[in-house]
Amino acid sequence: MASSDEKVDFLTGAPVVRAPRSKRSKWTALGLVALLATVFAVAFLHADFLYGKFLSATSLTHTVAKLCPQSDALYPENNAQLWDSLGSDFDEDAFTTRAAAWLGGAVRIPTEAYDDMGPVGEDERWEAFVPFHAYLVQSFPLIHKSLTLTKVNTYGLLYEWKGSDDSLKPLLLAAHQDVVPVEPETVDQWDYPPYSGYYDGKSIWGRGSSDDKSGLIGILASIETLLEKGFEPARTIVLASGFDEEISGAQGARHLSDAMLKKYGKDSFALLVDEGGIFLDIEGSVIAIPGIAEKGKLDTKVKVMTAGGHSSIPPAHTSIGTLARFLVEYEANPIEPHLERGTPIYNTVQCVGQYAKNLPALLRALIKTSIYSDRALRKLEAELIKYPIFRALIGTTQAIDLVQGGVKANALPEEAWALINHRIATQSSVAAVQQRDTDVLRQLAKEFNLTYTAFGSEISTEDDPAGTLTLTDAFGTALEPAPVTPVGEDSAPWQLLSGTIKATYNVHRGLNGEDNIFVSPGIMTGNTDTRHYWNLTRHIVRYSHYDGGNSVSNPNGIHTVNEYILADNFVEIIRFFSTLILNADESRDID
Ligand SMILES: *[C@@H]1O[C@H](CO)[C@@H](O)[C@H](O)[C@H]1NC(C)=O
Ligand SMILES: *[C@@H]1O[C@H](CO)[C@@H](O)[C@H](O)[C@H]1NC(C)=O
Repeated sequence: MASSDEKVDFLTGAPVVRAPRSKRSKWTALGLVALLATVFAVAFLHADFLYGKFLSATSLTHTVAKLCPQSDALYPENNAQLWDSLGSDFDEDAFTTRAAAWLGGAVRIPTEAYDDMGPVGEDERWEAFVPFHAYLVQSFPLIHKSLTLTKVNTYGLLYEWKGSDDSLKPLLLAAHQDVVPVEPETVDQWDYPPYSGYYDGKSIWGRGSSDDKSGLIGILASIETLLEKGFEPARTIVLASGFDEEISGAQGARHLSDAMLKKYGKDSFALLVDEGGIFLDIEGSVIAIPGIAEKGKLDTKVKVMTAGGHSSIPPAHTSIGTLARFLVEYEANPIEPHLERGTPIYNTVQCVGQYAKNLPALLRALIKTSIYSDRALRKLEAELIKYPIFRALIGTTQAIDLVQGGVKANALPEEAWALINHRIATQSSVAAVQQRDTDVLRQLAKEFNLTYTAFGSEISTEDDPAGTLTLTDAFGTALEPAPVTPVGEDSAPWQLLSGTIKATYNVHRGLNGEDNIFVSPGIMTGNTDTRHYWNLTRHIVRYSHYDGGNSVSNPNGIHTVNEYILADNFVEIIRFFSTLILNADESRDID
C-alpha cells in the first residue's frame, strides 16, 4: 500500500522516500497501536485528576454508542448452507495448502514498480506484468470463464462478475499487483530468497506475500471457490487491480477509475474495499481498524531569487541566507496539531476508550469526558500528542525535505529553493495549508524587500525589490485529504463491513457472541489506490483482514526484508472476502 513517496515511518513520523532500508509501515492500525499501547500506560501514571465523577452515565452511553457504533456479527442467511460448506473447506489442511500454492506462485513472479517508471508502452519494465497475468489465467480457470476481464491501460485488470439484479449497486474490491522493489544489497538478509514464494508449512515468504498479493489473490481465491460451489451473485461484483499503487497509481488506478466512471457512473458502487488497516490486540481487546480517511499532501517549493554577482562585493543577505531565514521561520511556527471532535481519529480514540479492556480507568474516563468537556479534550490531546505518531495523525505536518542553492564558491547565488512536504490533516485542505504557508512568510518577505508571489497570486510588491520570493506546488501533485467515509449507525455499508469482520473472526476461531472483536474507524497516513476512486462511491474503506497480533511494529515485513504472511491468516482473508461477497449479495440496505 501507499506509494513510496507517500510513506512515513510510523515510529518516527518521518517521510520515507525510497524502497526498503529500514522498518516502515503503511498501516494506520499499527501506528495507532504503537501510540495507544504506550500512551495509555503513561497517561495512566500521569493523570492527576478524575473526570469520572462528572459523568452522566446514560446520556454519555448514548453518545459513545454514536461515536463508536458496533454492529452485530453478520452471517449469510440465504446462502447459509453454501457458506457453511465453504467454511468446512476452508477449515481443511488441503485448502491451506491450495491457498499457499496460489499465493506462492503469485509471489514468484516479480512485479516491481520503480519510482522513475515511464508510461506504459515506453518503459519496458512494465512487461513484468505479462507473465503475472498468464499466471492468473492459469490459476483461476473458472474466473476466466465466468467473469468479464477488461485490460485497462494494458496492465490494469478490471473483472466484472455480473449479478442477476441490475438494480443493486455493485460491490467494488480493489487490490494492487505491483510490489516495492527488493533492494539488491538486502537480498542476503532474507531467510528465503525474496521471490521464492516459499511455504514452510506455516507461512508464505517473499515480497508481495502481504502487500498486496495476499489481497489480490485472496479476492480471486474467494471468487474461484464461490464459483466452484455454483454461487451466482444477484449483486454485481467488480475487482479493480492497479499495477503502480506503490508509485501513486497514475498508470493503473487513475485509468481504472476513468474506465469504471464511464461504465458504471458516479457514486455507482455500494461499497469499496481496498487494502489498509488491520486488526490487532490493543490493551487486551482485539480491535479492527479500517481506514475511513487518508491525509492529503502538499509539497511547497519556496524559491528566493536575488541579483547575482561576484561574491567579493556581497550584499548583507544572499538568496541562500534569506531562504535560511525563511526556513527557520517555518520551523519556529509549526502547524499546531489539535485533537478535534468529529474527526476520524477522535472516533478511533473513542472506540479504544470504550472497548480496550485493559485501558487504565482514568484514561478511559478522560476519553469519555472529552466528549463534552473542552478541558478534558485538551488534557487528552496533551497526553496523546507526546507521541510523534499521534501528532502526525491528528495534524498537518511539515518537513523541509529538499534544499538547493548556489553553483560556485565565488559567485553569488541567484536562486535558492527548498521543498516542504506537508501531510494534510483530514479536517484541513490544500487551500488552508497554502494560505498558512503564504502567511508565515508575509512579514519576512517585506523585511527582505522581496516581491512575493504565492501559488499564482501576487501577495506583495516592492518599489525597489531586492528580488522575488515565490511559493508553488512543487510537482503540481497536491492531494486533498480523502472524503471521510460515513460510519454512523445509519451507514449500512459500514455496518455490513463491521458485521462481516466480526463473523469472519468468530467463525475462523470457532467463537460465538459479539465481544470477541470490535471495529473502530481509523485513518491512513499514507495513500492507497483509492485516491483515484473518490467519485465512484462515498463508502470507501481501506481494510486488509490481517491479524496484527499484539505486535506494535511492522509484523509482516512489509516493504522490508522477510515479508511473509501466515498461511492461516491468508485463509482467513479468503474467508473474509467470501463472507463479504455473500453478505453484500444479501443486503438490501447498502444501495
Ligand atoms: C529593505 O530596504 C530598506 C529600504 O531600502 C532597507 O533599509 C533595508 O535594509 C532592506 N532590507 C534588507 C533585509 O535588506
Ligand atoms: C471527481 O470528479 C471531479 C469532477 O469531475 C474531478 O474534478 C475530480 O478530479 C474527481 N476526483 C477524483 C479523485 O478522481
